[in-house]
Amino acid sequence: MESGTCRLVELPKIFDPRGNLTFIEGNRHVPFAMRRAFWIYDVPGGEMRGGHAYRKNRELIVAVSGSFEVEVDDGKSVSRYLLNRSYFGLYMPPLHWRSLVNFSTNSLCLVLASEDYDETDYLRDYMTFKQLRST
Ligand code: TYD
Repeated sequence: MESGTCRLVELPKIFDPRGNLTFIEGNRHVPFAMRRAFWIYDVPGGEMRGGHAYRKNRELIVAVSGSFEVEVDDGKSVSRYLLNRSYFGLYMPPLHWRSLVNFSTNSLCLVLASEDYDETDYLRDYMTFKQLRST
């Protein structure tokens, strides 16, 4: 599976009258082994999360509940993805600047990451990110 492109990934959905079930397997639905999970919730109206890129970390971002948008900048162009289904994830390669905006009330954003948390892996300065992308 090619690792360099940001893309929506459709996940398996097991329909069941008792309630539906979706799952993710590392190295199958995403091109990495999952190492860490975190989730973002209770986001007040109008707030933004993200606003950075990673040097190495890859992620799958899922709107497990509710909806939000992810604005993705690959250094050349900006794309906007609406996540509003729990069986779709947005695969984020390294070196992609992301901003999560327009969270609906009670939305839940699950992030599956390829690496341990490491502040030195973050690019939090946009100009540094742009310079890295242009080299
Ligand atoms: P950050 O990744 O900047 O948040 P956002 O999702 O909005 O980009 O993380 C916010 C804070 O949470 C940061 O100061 C460090 C802490 N944090 C951890 O300790 N471990 C983690 O796995 C994550 C994702 C964040």
